[in-house]
Amino acid sequence: MIEENIISAKKRQTLDERLTSPIELGEDVQVESLRPLVFEDFLGQTELKEKLDIFIQAANQRTEALDHVLLSGPPGLGKTTFAKIIANSLCTNFVITSGPAIERQGDLAAILTNLGPRDVLFIDEIHRLKLPVEEILYSAMEDYKLDIIVGKGPDARNLRIDLPPFTLVGATTKSGLLSAPLRDRFGILGQFEFYNKEQLAQIVTRSASILEIKIEKDGALEIASRSRGTPRIANRLLKRVRDVAQVKGRKSVDLQVSCEALALLNVNELGLEVLDLKILKVLCEVYEGNPVGLSTLSISVGEDDETISEVCEPYLIQLGFVERTPRGRKSTPKGNRYYQKWVNNQD
Ligand SMILES: Nc1ncnc2c1ncn2[C@@H]1O[C@H](COP(=O)(O)OP(=O)(O)OP(=O)(O)O)[C@@H](O)[C@H]1O
Ligand SMILES: [Mg+2]
Repeated sequence: MIEENIISAKKRQTLDERLTSPIELGEDVQVESLRPLVFEDFLGQTELKEKLDIFIQAANQRTEALDHVLLSGPPGLGKTTFAKIIANSLCTNFVITSGPAIERQGDLAAILTNLGPRDVLFIDEIHRLKLPVEEILYSAMEDYKLDIIVGKGPDARNLRIDLPPFTLVGATTKSGLLSAPLRDRFGILGQFEFYNKEQLAQIVTRSASILEIKIEKDGALEIASRSRGTPRIANRLLKRVRDVAQVKGRKSVDLQVSCEALALLNVNELGLEVLDLKILKVLCEVYEGNPVGLSTLSISVGEDDETISEVCEPYLIQLGFVERTPRGRKSTPKGNRYYQKWVNNQD
């Protein structure tokens, strides 16, 4: 019975999307309860939190709308969560949409005209807004005015509608793709950083208490160090470790259970999975530290470009194992040393 469950956990990993992907998976949506609702529960990103806290207090004291905020950083670091906390702290409505969901100017106009004073409009993946839609945002953000053209041909006329003072919170994983006019209209820029091991261990401990999982400090630290600096992955690993602890009849998640479970799930001590190690293998062994183009790399490891560049690479780069150069990706001496050590340990 135990073996069966273990096998099914293993099988699930191969069938599922990658366990250590920072991208939101179906199962993550079920853990909505883990989202902190106030700044005190939002661990890490201290500087950004302090900055926002002051601006929010000032806006509240003057009963004005908060300046527009742009949150950028890799997936799963808490941008959406942070945006919700901003709205909670302002005691206003939180209206959520995303760049690709707004097809036409009229869609955005409808959203904007339905906002109340000081409401927070959150646009996720704001770099994916279509240009005509984005252009409507310029005057909306700057003057709280909506400029739209009604009618066609000679009958077309420009209509200017007043909007209530609102706050736009934009989130993006690719701030480089944002146009200059849009970026310039944000008064507050927040860059999210990867979390360190201690911060992630705190997040894991907090999540464990919400999910009523008994966890030891060393168990939380072990999950943290394999979570690729990302709270979303930390929460996901915690749930999988809990499954293993339960099936194996352990009362709490300690160091031993965490190590066993994560080894079973093929997540190594740095949070690397099979695909990350395959990439290192190609860069270190096949190309021997020479640069290789993304498309060649993707064919060599049998995975699509986007997964490599958005899921695997950012973390391999953060570890200092891989470098992006104008001539392609290459392994660094540190990456080579790690790979060699890993190969030796396999023997
Ligand atoms: N600082 C934090 N403290 C506690 N939990 C956090 C923190 N940041 C993120 N989380 C947890 O991680 C999960 C992912 O966060 P969130 O959805 O806000 O990330 P995101 O940056 O918006 O990702 P994406 O770019 O994919 O939209 C949340 O459900 C939340 O539970
Ligand atoms: Mg998000």
